[in-house]
Amino acid sequence: MSENGDDASHQLRVSKIHNGTVIDHVRAGQALNVLAILGIDGGDGESVSVGMNVPSDRLARKDIVKVEGRELSQDEVDVLSLIAPDATINIVREYDVVEKHRVERPDAVSGVLSCPNSGCITTADEPVTSRFEVLKDGVRCGYCGTIVREGIADQIDT
Ligand code: CTP
Ligand code: ZN
Repeated sequence: MSENGDDASHQLRVSKIHNGTVIDHVRAGQALNVLAILGIDGGDGESVSVGMNVPSDRLARKDIVKVEGRELSQDEVDVLSLIAPDATINIVREYDVVEKHRVERPDAVSGVLSCPNSGCITTADEPVTSRFEVLKDGVRCGYCGTIVREGIADQIDT
């Protein structure tokens, strides 16, 4: 049973998890941003496995992140969808996948991204919660209209 058709004997597989979440079909190159979104920096003892540029059926190459002992909040999934629009969230309990769903891009995200425009009211010292409309290929600030396409991950408030 190979998930990618390659000769399994030549592959170092990321091992299965016991309880937690597998974020699969992450766009290649985005795994570290996924960790950043989830606030994982290795400092809090969570057991995390990361595969980068793994061959995949659905994507040419994918990244995969497995987090032991953790389920994700809707906010976290919403932000993940911005950088990993094809991702699958698998909830694992007692080694079985008990829930699997594709991320859905929300129409908008509030309070999770900061605007790169230094003149934007959301970046001033005002009690304004950022709000971005989600576009097909980026996000648009609801206050100043600045569009971010590349580098959305850099705008994530952590
Ligand atoms: N997985 C895991 N630990 C488990 C169970 C599953 O790490 N205890 C991982 C698998 O390695 C896989 C992902 O979770 O990367 C989804 O598992 P599964 O649904 O069994 O695989 P597929 O059917 O290949 O998933 P899909 O159809 O979404 O590609
Ligand atoms: Zn703005």
